[in-house]
Order: sequence, then structure tokens, then C-alpha cells
Amino acid sequence: MTASRRPILELPDELISQIAAGEVVERPASVVRELLDNALDAGATQITLRLLAGGVRLISVEDDGAGIPADEMATALRRHATSKIASLAELEAVGTMGFRGEALAAINSIAEVSLLSRAGGQSSAHLLDGRTGEMKPVARAQGTTVEVKELFFSVPARRKFLKTDATELAHCIEAVRRHALARPDVGFA
Ligand SMILES: Nc1ncnc2c1ncn2[C@@H]1O[C@H](COP(=O)(O)OP(=O)(O)OP(=O)(O)O)[C@@H](O)[C@H]1O
Ligand SMILES: [Mg+2]
Repeated sequence: MTASRRPILELPDELISQIAAGEVVERPASVVRELLDNALDAGATQITLRLLAGGVRLISVEDDGAGIPADEMATALRRHATSKIASLAELEAVGTMGFRGEALAAINSIAEVSLLSRAGGQSSAHLLDGRTGEMKPVARAQGTTVEVKELFFSVPARRKFLKTDATELAHCIEAVRRHALARPDVGFA
């Protein structure tokens, strides 16, 4: 190609996140897998999943796990932020499904995310809007609910590659089935 060359520029942070999200989230079922992994890592014994339109309109995963303290909720949505490892030694001995600190940040860059959580020992739950960063106290028992709405709303090129709602739903159900089979000690609804 002989086109005049363009200068090398560093990409803006939001675009970096959206590109990185392509590695984590291919379709709604990828989101289901990541949220179920997180619930299991948090020690959930009961997980409730809700889907609308094959997960494109809504994916909601509610668990009764350890929860996230209010002052760490915003950090949970940031890239490379994790409670699961803090060193190379811990990476080599990792016992959780997640450890990259990527999933929630990736999902939050390509969908409308809200995080509702109450950690053990906290007097109330908090609801965090992933877009505005606004946080308010709400009622909830210990555990976490992650809601993901309008997947790929900001990335129409990705949305175009989604199959029918029925096909996406089938992939989501398969993801749940695999998790449920692997963990008979955890209730899935
Ligand atoms: N359902 C949940 N219950 C309790 N804590 C959660 C839950 N989901 C996320 N978290 C917290 O938010 C952090 C970020 O989650 P995220 O999925 O982005 O990263 P990760 O699980 O650490 O790594 P990975 O990107 O490999 O999934 C987690 O490390 C965990 O501390
Ligand atoms: Mg995770």
C-alpha cells in the first residue's frame, strides 16, 4: 500500500477497553460465563440467572456469595483490578476461575452495567451505576447482583454478528448447564 503513513498515536482509554472487550466478550453466553465464574469465586451457594432476548436485552446474575464492600465496588469495574491475585506467586497458585481483573471492565465498556452488592458485615447494600459511577444505598441480603443491559449497544459492528435471540439463548443455557454440572453443590435457577 502506498497511502501516506499516519503518525503513531496512543489510543484513548475508552477505545483500549472496547478493543480489549472483544477478547473477553464474543456473545451473551460469554457474559453469562464470566458472571457465573464470579459468583462461584465469591462462594455462592445459590445463583439466579435472568435473561431477556437471548441475553442481548438483559443478563442478570444474582448470588448469595461474599459480596463486595461499598468502597471497592467502583474498583471492581476498573481494568486490571482483582481481589483474586496480588503477585506472580499467587498467579502461579491461583485457585479461582478469574484472576485477570478484566471481565467486569470489559462488559462495562460495551453494555449498561449495574452492580448491586452487600458484603458480610455491611449495614446495607449499594447499587452502582457503571455508566455514571453514581452509587446509592439499597436493601438487599448479603451477595451480589450484576445486571448487564443492551449488550454491544455502543459497538454496532459487534451487535451485527449476533445470531437470533433463540440461538444466543441456547448458547447461554449451555453455559449455565456446564457450570451447573461442574458444581452440583450450588443451586442454579
Ligand atoms: N459476584 C461477585 N461477588 C463478589 N465479588 C465479585 C463478584 N463479581 C466480581 N467481584 C469482585 O470484582 C472483582 C473484579 O471482577 P472481574 O470478573 O472483573 O475480575 P476477576 O474475576 O478478578 O478476573 P477475570 O477478569 O479473570 O474474571 C473480582 O476480583 C471480585 O473481587
Ligand atoms: Mg471474573
